[in-house]
Amino acid sequence: MLGLLVIATALRALGETFNSDSFPEALAVKVEALPWIFPLHMFTGGLALLLVPLTLLARGRSWHKWVGRLTGLDVLLAGVTAPFVAWVAPVTRVSALGFTMQGLVWMGLFAGGFWFIRQGRVAEHRACMLLMMAVTSGAVFFRLYLALWARFGSHHYLNVFYACDAWVAWGLPLIGVALLLLRKPALLA
Ligand code: HEM
Repeated sequence: MLGLLVIATALRALGETFNSDSFPEALAVKVEALPWIFPLHMFTGGLALLLVPLTLLARGRSWHKWVGRLTGLDVLLAGVTAPFVAWVAPVTRVSALGFTMQGLVWMGLFAGGFWFIRQGRVAEHRACMLLMMAVTSGAVFFRLYLALWARFGSHHYLNVFYACDAWVAWGLPLIGVALLLLRKPALLA
């Protein structure tokens, strides 16, 4: 179920790179202001949703290293473009800050995971990459929560909800995975 949701979100993001006609005004202005950076973010973000789980599935195989490096490059592009997209006509400053933190934590965890494996520290590498996956999942949860709010919540408080969503969508999975790893360190063995 979750896998299907991830694939659907990724395909939608890849599609929106080339056709953002259905965007609400708040996002359409960003495409207008950043005609290259925003599509680049959507494309690399969508690709990240496919590449990150693929890298995990390739664990223990010879191509894990190569798909991992490709994922790293993709995460770098999606992460570096994120703050630009966030701060151009921000929906709210709190949401823009949330997205910026998400991008920084995302790239930081990937860089940490890369550094640890270069040092031969496998358990730390795994921990960083599992946490990085949790932050990636925020892109799916963000849209899921927003869709649920649009359906069941009050339109009046949409901006407040949007700001909370920009933090909670990735913060909760990150905390959840961190607690899991602390309670079950055997997962890293
Ligand atoms: C994990 C780090 C990420 C950060 C920090 C980030 C940040 C952002 C920001 C700031 C926006 C504009 C929304 C706004 O300002 O209100 C945006 C839009 C978008 N992002 Fe990302 N993003 C990330 C990952 C992803 C991923 C993994 C995807 C794949 C689905 C993605 C796809 C998109 C798309 C398609 C949009 C256009 C609007 C939409 O469909 O909601 N991003 N992102």
